[in-house]
Amino acid sequence: MEFILYEVKDMVATITINRPKALNALNSQVLEELDAALDAVDLNTVRCLILTGAGDKSFVAGADIGEMSTLTKAEGEAFGKKGNDVFRKLETFPIPVIAAINGFALGGGCEISMSCDIRICSDNAVFGQPETGLGITPGFGGTQRLARLVSPGMAKQLIYSARNIKADEAYRIGLVNAVYPAGELIPQAEKLAATIAKNAPIAVRNCKKAINDGLQTDMDNALVIEEKLFGDCFETEDQKAGMGNFLEKDKEKKLKVVPFKNC
Ligand code: CAA
Repeated sequence: MEFILYEVKDMVATITINRPKALNALNSQVLEELDAALDAVDLNTVRCLILTGAGDKSFVAGADIGEMSTLTKAEGEAFGKKGNDVFRKLETFPIPVIAAINGFALGGGCEISMSCDIRICSDNAVFGQPETGLGITPGFGGTQRLARLVSPGMAKQLIYSARNIKADEAYRIGLVNAVYPAGELIPQAEKLAATIAKNAPIAVRNCKKAINDGLQTDMDNALVIEEKLFGDCFETEDQKAGMGNFLEKDKEKKLKVVPFKNC
């Protein structure tokens, strides 16, 4: 792949969008390669994914403005769908995805980070949806995910004004969970990923599914979703090992690795 780097360490995989000359902007090829990279993740061995950008200046500076500049109405819609499909794959990816935002996260860059489960950033990160300044709406889910993640009022203010915000403001409005000095960002992402990876993998996946699916429906149905995923865990070796270890007071015993069960 030309624009995607993929690395696995222990049970944690890192996908790096690697197009630093264009500040990792997302053209069609980057989106296609990202889609293929996600398909290639070995879910039997990888338990957490980190997504970041190459270089120390930019996570992703948005969708590729050069490529978009000549699109027709139909092509614009198709380009939006191409981004939305990949971002949705990321959002519903069976294992947790941490966005390690190492600089500009503008337009499609902010949008891809919002498709991840957890966002942490470096202190030089800049977020924004500059699309209205370019004569378009956000096109890779920004109108929907920003409004759900922060608040409709804050999302509307940021999107209508096309104003960029720095890391501290992104933290204050709840767009990111933590801000780190640039050099500490990846180690912190890896530390968090390792913490997640040592917990029972099916339980972690079920938690992601319960939260994501539950947010799409009313509370009564959401609780039924949780009950089913909670119940599923009682068929796993991890539940028996995890609870057995507690009862035996054997806190040193690690949870057994079991293959992914489709739930
Ligand atoms: N698309 C294509 N190329 C981009 C790009 C983008 N979104 N962002 C940066 N680049 C390219 C620049 O054209 C430049 O290339 P050249 O060296 O060949 O000229 C290179 O990356 C470096 O960029 P700058 O020289 O502009 O770097 P800077 O430090 O002066 O500025 C920046 C950095 C503020 C991020 C600025 O590059 C910028 O404003 N980029 C555009 C950000 C943006 O508007 N993103 C939203 C795109 S629309 C979108 O994403 C729609 C959607 O929802 C799907």
